[in-house]
Amino acid sequence: MIMVTGGAGYIGTHICVELLAAGHDVVVFDNFCNSQPEAVQRVEQISGRKLTLVTGDIRDPVALEAALRQHAVKAVIHCAGLKAVGESVEQPLAYYDNNVVGTLRLLEAMRAAGVNTLVFSSSATVYGEPQYLPLTEAHPLSATNPYGRSKLMIEDILRDLHRSDASWRIGILRYFNPVGAHISGKIGENPRGVPNNLLPFVAQVAVGLRSSLNVWGDDYETPDGTGVRDYIHVVDLADGHLKALAYLQKQGGLLTVNLGTGNGYSVLDMVKAFAEASGKPVPYQVMPRRAGDVAACYAEPSEALRLLGWRAERGLDAMCADAWRWQSGNPNGFASS
Ligand code: NAD
Ligand code: UFG
Repeated sequence: MIMVTGGAGYIGTHICVELLAAGHDVVVFDNFCNSQPEAVQRVEQISGRKLTLVTGDIRDPVALEAALRQHAVKAVIHCAGLKAVGESVEQPLAYYDNNVVGTLRLLEAMRAAGVNTLVFSSSATVYGEPQYLPLTEAHPLSATNPYGRSKLMIEDILRDLHRSDASWRIGILRYFNPVGAHISGKIGENPRGVPNNLLPFVAQVAVGLRSSLNVWGDDYETPDGTGVRDYIHVVDLADGHLKALAYLQKQGGLLTVNLGTGNGYSVLDMVKAFAEASGKPVPYQVMPRRAGDVAACYAEPSEALRLLGWRAERGLDAMCADAWRWQSGNPNGFASS
């Protein structure tokens, strides 16, 4: 039995689908602060299998330990957390509490229940301002906002924990920019309010929910002046978790890998690809730069290939086509059903 904290969220639901397809039993532990139970039902529809749902907060050690024991959990994939950079600047305590304290409580509950295998959702945000590209795992770590600092603190806690007790099996997966959706169109990203991230915003423009995209700056030192990122299909990302889990179960140790494609695409590349995939216009206007953005950020993904035998398989067309299938079929997210 594998526990997925935050398993009702965007990335968690896609991980659950892949786990169920690979024959694992799954327990989702989520407090639905940024998701809906409908998402879990959709996972079951796609999979043709049931999973176990525990509604709870990772900061509740009693509920966590009970769930770990009751369901005989062997490993935890830890996706639960808050993720909005801007919100983290306004509400730092909520971010440190949910992300850092929540992870501490989870680790304590795992230790109490005798579960020592953890895969953690980290982020390329821990590299701070890139000093070189592509980003290798050895790049210096830093953070520029409370969200990023919470991820860096958690990584440090995990490294200290492993140093103190090498029987822990810990995978730190540094995601680049997850986009796209399951090919069924039944699950996908469902942001509350105005999307911060590029692809959900573009998708809402294409479906007619918003009139046009603000492109945050076209004067960066990039080929077309707009920001460059390493967009990775969420199903490829999910698959990376299964590979990391298999690695940890076989080898143990502390694993730290980038999950990215190694390709950088600009904002305008994404707009063009999405317009082609959807057949809809994506009007945009260029605005001043967004505070805190870097010009370019993309991964050196070869460590994940070397250690896990994992590489991203899906290209930009699939990312956009799958995001569009989800968006056009569910214009109001899970509220559509
Ligand atoms: P999401 O908000 O869709 O999913 C997170 C899930 O965690 C939600 O279902 C939410 O209800 C749950 N949750 C939050 N706090 C909780 C708590 N205290 N107790 C129980 N459940 C709680 O986000 P996502 O995009 O699926 O991200 C998953 C993880 O990946 C996060 O840790 C995020 O920081 C990390 N990450 C995401 C991105 C991205 O761009 N989406 C990039 C890098 C890293
Ligand atoms: N962008 C726009 N208009 C928008 C939204 C985004 O032009 O409406 C541009 C941004 O300026 C950037 C690119 O699109 O150049 C990607 O922006 P996103 O917000 O989608 O992604 P970021 O790379 O800025 O942020 C992501 C994660 C964060 C994480 C950060 C650093 O969402 O959680 O990477 O790793 F902190």
